[in-house]
Amino acid sequence: MTRTDPILSIEGLSTSFTGDEGTVVAVDDVSFDVNEGEIVGLIGESGSGKSVTALGIIGLLPKDTARVTAKRIMFDGRDLTQASDRELRRLRGGSIGMVFQEPMSSLNPVLKIGDQLMEPIRIHERISRRAAFDRGVELLAKVGIPSPAQRMNDYPHQLSGGMRQRVMIAIALSCSPKLLLADEPTTALDVTIQAQLLDLLLEIQAETRMAIVLITHSMGVIAECADKVVVMYSGRIAEQGPVTEIFDRPGHPYTRGLMQCTPELTGNPRRLTTIPGSLPSLSALPPGCRFAPRCDLALDACRTGRPPMIGLGEKHASACIRATELVTRSMLPEGAEA
Ligand SMILES: Nc1ncnc2c1ncn2[C@@H]1O[C@H](COP(=O)(O)OP(=O)(O)O)[C@@H](O)[C@H]1O
Ligand SMILES: [Mg+2]
Repeated sequence: MTRTDPILSIEGLSTSFTGDEGTVVAVDDVSFDVNEGEIVGLIGESGSGKSVTALGIIGLLPKDTARVTAKRIMFDGRDLTQASDRELRRLRGGSIGMVFQEPMSSLNPVLKIGDQLMEPIRIHERISRRAAFDRGVELLAKVGIPSPAQRMNDYPHQLSGGMRQRVMIAIALSCSPKLLLADEPTTALDVTIQAQLLDLLLEIQAETRMAIVLITHSMGVIAECADKVVVMYSGRIAEQGPVTEIFDRPGHPYTRGLMQCTPELTGNPRRLTTIPGSLPSLSALPPGCRFAPRCDLALDACRTGRPPMIGLGEKHASACIRATELVTRSMLPEGAEA
């Protein structure tokens, strides 16, 4: 691995689930890179395949029903598609930290915060209980938990949702990961706490330079935090590119729709819109572009064949056959495009 290689490079990741109703493809040929020190936002409506993508990378999908395939998933110089379960287990909570949406389901309710924090430290670093305790206290302080030494003896239910999520972040950081997979880490919390936690993540990221895959369904969060954005729709990548580039020249009607639904971006907090319609069911996917049934710009050609990725600039690409036309139009002043 050379210095300029991405820390994570996913090529052609697909995931299917087999159940009583047959087999469905939840993630279909997804590729993106995450560079060292970069925050990549993975966005899309609920059900678009964001969590399945993240869980597939680190081997956390149920073995009996999920089938994950990829050309390559390079992390820090090795191919995770070739890694054994044991190696993947070692990476999780080691070089790859994880924070999920609902900390109550990730924290063990019958174990003290301190024990849950010390466990990964002791597994990965083989230090004494005393030293691990001190590290635990230090980590709780770092994530902004008051009276950290006392909190080590608390059980998860004794903390608020925001504090529990801070504990999850502390656990994820305990082994100085090179990559953090944060799956909607603030979605379950109220707005003020969300903002505090995102600030905390940004602060820690600036200090440690770890890379973050930040899964969210909020374009506001992307705008605030991410360097790069990967927009997913119905298991496929709709568009990806640098955040500034995508906000200036969104090249996919779905991305534009998401932006128009974001009050922080439209500057009109009272006008809350949503994209009409909903995601197709995985068992009845439309042929062609999966967004076509909801798209005002769809042409007949959109309903046949998978739309190719069209390059729109350096590292900016969109899976829309009208992408070029769209970015040209979005450079026109507001209202002039009608
Ligand atoms: N264990 C599973 N078995 C079957 N289907 C699943 C499983 N996990 C997720 N899915 C399906 O995969 C699709 C993508 O889900 P997910 O990745 O959780 O979406 P999101 O973008 O909201 O994180 C959804 O249709 C979901 O129902
Ligand atoms: Mg999810």
